[in-house]
Amino acid sequence: MRLQGKVALVTGAARGIGRGIALRFAKEGAAVGVVDLDEAQCLAVVDEITAAGGAGLALGADIRDEAQVERAAARLREHFGTINVLVNNAAVMPAGALHETSPEDFDRCLGVNLRGTYLCSRAVIPGMLAAGQGSIIHMSSVTGTLGLPGLAVYSATKAALSGLARAMSTDYARFGIRTNAVAPGTIDSPMLHDFLAAQSNPEALRRQFDAMHPIGRVGQIDEVANVFVFLASDESSFVTGATYSVDGGLSVKGEQPQD
Ligand SMILES: NC(=O)c1ccc[n+]([C@@H]2O[C@H](COP(=O)([O-])OP(=O)(O)OC[C@H]3O[C@@H](n4cnc5c(N)ncnc54)[C@H](O)[C@@H]3O)[C@@H](O)[C@H]2O)c1
Repeated sequence: MRLQGKVALVTGAARGIGRGIALRFAKEGAAVGVVDLDEAQCLAVVDEITAAGGAGLALGADIRDEAQVERAAARLREHFGTINVLVNNAAVMPAGALHETSPEDFDRCLGVNLRGTYLCSRAVIPGMLAAGQGSIIHMSSVTGTLGLPGLAVYSATKAALSGLARAMSTDYARFGIRTNAVAPGTIDSPMLHDFLAAQSNPEALRRQFDAMHPIGRVGQIDEVANVFVFLASDESSFVTGATYSVDGGLSVKGEQPQD
């Protein structure tokens, strides 16, 4: 098992990609702190983890709140010891061109996507410094480098998360803490299903999402989780400050007029 003996805190782990990462980490031997807004949803994921023979702890918390974050990290440490891996996955995505979003949308998006990442990192770094090792992985997105319509505020946070991983790597590399980011393309997830269900022609739109990726389809949650396992494990011991694209070639796609 590739994460045997590690203790991981995963935010936004009650559903979607975060849930997939939490389940996969547990399968690879990590004890996993499942952090999300709703503790009951976290418990359901921990039940899945324990049913499969793994170890987990449900930690209901709003990651925008410093006291809640500190309490969640402290509870995970009490249960399983020093936190070695942090996955900053929780995010919200207000839709709309900039003028169509509200200042409240902006504050909430920066609050979860950036302040939440900041607070969770701040809560685990002292322990990682004391242990002389750790891996922190921020969830960015293809929107951090590519301009997609109606996602200005969200895209700004995702670009910032790559910048944060780079800057943090410079500060912490010599103390054994690695910081990286992962930038997925469109992933077959509840977020995508909810979005499609609200459109007039979900099937046609789904085909467009598939075709948009050079590989010819959207990604699967496991295909994202695979990269997180690598970055969380000691297999990536010389990797820090990187942003890994997991997007079927979307971010490097060129266009050329054709006959
Ligand atoms: N789904 C995709 O196609 C896609 C593509 C690229 C990047 N991503 C990124 O992957 C991550 C997960 O995406 P997803 O599709 O699973 O999203 P999702 O909306 O299904 O899950 C996000 C989770 O974060 C939690 N959350 C939100 N605010 C929180 C807060 N204040 N405190 C604690 N938890 C909070 C939610 O309750 C939810 O369980 C996000 O960072 C997203 O930006 C997703």
